[in-house]
Amino acid sequence: MFGGKKIAKKSDVAIGLDVGNFAVKVVQLSQKGDTFNLDSFGYAKINIEKLDGVVEAIKNACAEAGITQKKVNASITPEGVIVRYLTLPEMNTDELKKAMEFEIERYVPFERKDVVNDYMILKERPDSKNMKILLVAAKKDFVENRIKILREAGLDPEVITIDAIVLKDTFQLNYPEKNNKVVGLLNIGAKSSNINIVKGPTSYFMRDIQLGGDNITHLLKEKIDIGLEEAEKIKCSLTLEDKEKFKIIEPVLGNLLNEVYLSFDYYESEFGLVVDEVFVSGGTARLKWLTDFLKENLNREVSVLSPVKRFTAAPAVSQSRLELFSPSLVVATGLALENFS
Ligand SMILES: Nc1ncnc2c1ncn2[C@@H]1O[C@H](COP(=O)(O)OP(=O)(O)OP(=O)(O)O)[C@@H](O)[C@H]1O
Ligand SMILES: [Mg+2]
Repeated sequence: MFGGKKIAKKSDVAIGLDVGNFAVKVVQLSQKGDTFNLDSFGYAKINIEKLDGVVEAIKNACAEAGITQKKVNASITPEGVIVRYLTLPEMNTDELKKAMEFEIERYVPFERKDVVNDYMILKERPDSKNMKILLVAAKKDFVENRIKILREAGLDPEVITIDAIVLKDTFQLNYPEKNNKVVGLLNIGAKSSNINIVKGPTSYFMRDIQLGGDNITHLLKEKIDIGLEEAEKIKCSLTLEDKEKFKIIEPVLGNLLNEVYLSFDYYESEFGLVVDEVFVSGGTARLKWLTDFLKENLNREVSVLSPVKRFTAAPAVSQSRLELFSPSLVVATGLALENFS
């Protein structure tokens, strides 16, 4: 998408690297006929107190996964990306290209020369004479910065895209039986979360919100009056019996829920369809209660997305570690999948 470089050839092995605010996740995939194999994966927490904490975590995650190839697919942080849905009258590709230049000037608050962009046409309601366009733009600085960090870690990034787009690809490949359903994908990270509404290969709605697991940790820290590290530990070891703690963190889950309501409402009124079910991913999907809380309040089926549900795994992959980290590997898996699409 960004960076202008197209993947040179469909190689047999692909590496997806997800540099988050909290942790670096890396996945190596290979394709054998129609099946994908998870060769290895790595997960490394970022030490935010260290200047080179991100580079170090990239190296650690790659070392755990035994990555030897330098070419990796990566994404840029949502903070650097502008996503807009536009409605335009129906027109041909050339007209659209020209029209988009105007729209970019209008919607992107940076100088044109500083911006890289891409767009895709979404399906409109059958009764409409308009087209809906998804515009994704980023400041060149952000893209270049990400490339610089990856190079410092000794890698050679090939594709730079955004999390929300690959999230959909991971889902689609693993859940083909849901192709006719409208599905809400919630990827809940540390600082940000992504809400995506998809049906088959089409993404109808995509939004990043600045809310995630960090907000839960900070609330625990404040309310129990403990340090951040301890709050993080408590959060990650909560059980369904810890009702008191659930009461403490409920407001954050409530804020998240409100954003989900707003997004679903918008989609339902704009496209005249209802979101059928929901899949959650990201590190915060490991929080006990999250699926139950969402299920109860959204009145829909809510499941944790498994990014490698239909994959085989190399014998060296630890099943227990994979089970633990799998909700966090959704973006890295989608990035690797870019090579095979
Ligand atoms: N067992 C657990 N229970 C609850 N939360 C958890 C658990 N394990 C990890 N988390 C939380 O998941 C978050 C990290 O998720 P993830 O790895 O998806 O984030 P990230 O991609 O690094 O961040 P971002 O997407 O915001 O840049 C952290 O807030 C962490 O505390
Ligand atoms: Mg993330």
